Amino acid sequence: MGNIRFLVLLGALALAQIVAATTSGAAITFKQCIQLEVPVPVVATNQNYSMPRVDSNIDAIDWTVNVTTRSTTPHIFNSVNINNTFTISAQLCVPSQKGPKADVLQIATHGLGFDKIYWDVEINPEEYSYVDAAVKKGYSILTYDRLGTGKSQRPDAYTVVQIPTEVEILAGLTKLARSGKLINSSKASGTSSRTISDFRPSKVVQVGHSFGSYLIALLLSRHVEISDGAILTGFLVTKLPTINVLHYDHEFAREHDPVRFGQYPSGYFVLNTKSCLQKLFLRKGAFEPEMLDYTEKIKQPEAVGEYASEGSNPPSPAVGFKGPIQFFNGEFDNYICIGDCRGALDEDTVKLLFPNTTVYTYLQPNTGHALTMATNASAGYQVMLNFLDEKGL
Ligand SMILES: *[C@@H]1O[C@H](CO)[C@@H](O)[C@H](O)[C@H]1NC(C)=O
Ligand SMILES: *[C@@H]1O[C@H](CO)[C@@H](O)[C@H](O)[C@H]1NC(C)=O
Ligand SMILES: *[C@@H]1O[C@H](CO)[C@@H](O)[C@H](O)[C@H]1NC(C)=O
Ligand SMILES: *[C@@H]1O[C@H](CO)[C@@H](O)[C@H](O)[C@H]1NC(C)=O
Ligand SMILES: *[C@@H]1O[C@H](CO)[C@@H](O)[C@H](O)[C@H]1NC(C)=O
Ligand SMILES: *[C@@H]1O[C@H](CO)[C@@H](O)[C@H](O)[C@H]1NC(C)=O
Repeated sequence: MGNIRFLVLLGALALAQIVAATTSGAAITFKQCIQLEVPVPVVATNQNYSMPRVDSNIDAIDWTVNVTTRSTTPHIFNSVNINNTFTISAQLCVPSQKGPKADVLQIATHGLGFDKIYWDVEINPEEYSYVDAAVKKGYSILTYDRLGTGKSQRPDAYTVVQIPTEVEILAGLTKLARSGKLINSSKASGTSSRTISDFRPSKVVQVGHSFGSYLIALLLSRHVEISDGAILTGFLVTKLPTINVLHYDHEFAREHDPVRFGQYPSGYFVLNTKSCLQKLFLRKGAFEPEMLDYTEKIKQPEAVGEYASEGSNPPSPAVGFKGPIQFFNGEFDNYICIGDCRGALDEDTVKLLFPNTTVYTYLQPNTGHALTMATNASAGYQVMLNFLDEKGL
């Protein structure tokens, strides 16, 4: 499995308001949403990796050069046992009019570079918000800020914010939701109606973007039994070489923007420029200039431990996972396919990784890595949602 490329990345801040179905003048809205601070207990084994510390913009570039230096070999000092409860910021939305699909909960995990707003783009939401598209189709959907982003907790960027811990956070959220205790065990803001406080899904579909999809692939192999299907976006199993961090630059989050990111400690960095965001996420002709400004406005820091932990957490077969899986990607995704995903799928490796189910693939025409920010986003959402519907979810 050594040269399997599990290529991934980046994914989105929740300013969304509680949308209550009120009759006071305004029309009844199609969704009810609640903002949650969820305490998620986690037991996981991280590693203490050797790497330079990042406490300035100069350090951020030095980190990039150091980790890509041809003679650098990964070194682990010791294992780090995580046994903590992390506070995770989440949003649950359910349809106001409950149909048969309202009991199917989609749990959406964003990638690196954004927080949960990735799924809930505020510009022209009827075109761009995946949350709205899913709820209008009758689904319930939970979005959350991964550890270290948005309004979730920002623990040590070196030894805590790593892949094993993030996979267990997703597992923990999924189990809480399934048990019907998600809302009761969380601090909820705004008023919650009965519809939502009693919410207990019968099925769970994992939806990911990039690094979020990577976490889901690991979740399906480590916790086979807790998901009923998955849509992995911005993620493809290929034999292509990786676009490594030499292709894009970060700055130390706190120095980059002390107003927005003043709370981020050592080891958190952020993509430096709008040009860099365009290169990684957007394809000319398939995004509105306003959207590029928006990506810059909503971009979020990443933790160095997320990069460091990729090497020791390779994808492993999801033996026994039988739910339907769709790989949904932009045709011209620069990050995962070096600009062109046509013909890039490595079908043999897909069969090894998902031996007990069928993986369906779809390339969304003329689209880059950030599928929710492309002008044709809403047509793509229909492809994803129809896939679930056809598979009985
Ligand atoms: C990681 O290793 C360094 C170097 O040995 C050590 O100083 C540090 O305390 C270790 N951190 C953890 C969390 O184990
Ligand atoms: C990379 O950083 C590590 C940890 O700080 C250091 O030990 C190593 O010498 C650096 N490598 C290079 C080539 O500078
Ligand atoms: C985690 O911590 C709790 C309480 O401190 C303890 O009861 C439990 O045994 C620990 N679990 C592991 C796997 O270390
Ligand atoms: C959540 O708490 C409320 C009030 O304490 C209770 O009425 C309800 O049954 C609880 N729901 C679940 C699923 O435990
Ligand atoms: C999964 O697929 C493998 C390889 O085809 C097969 O040996 C195994 O029996 C299957 N397991 C289940 C639970 O279906
Ligand atoms: C928009 O996406 C849909 C669904 O993938 C596709 O059928 C259509 O051709 C796309 N339109 C353009 C202009 O790319």
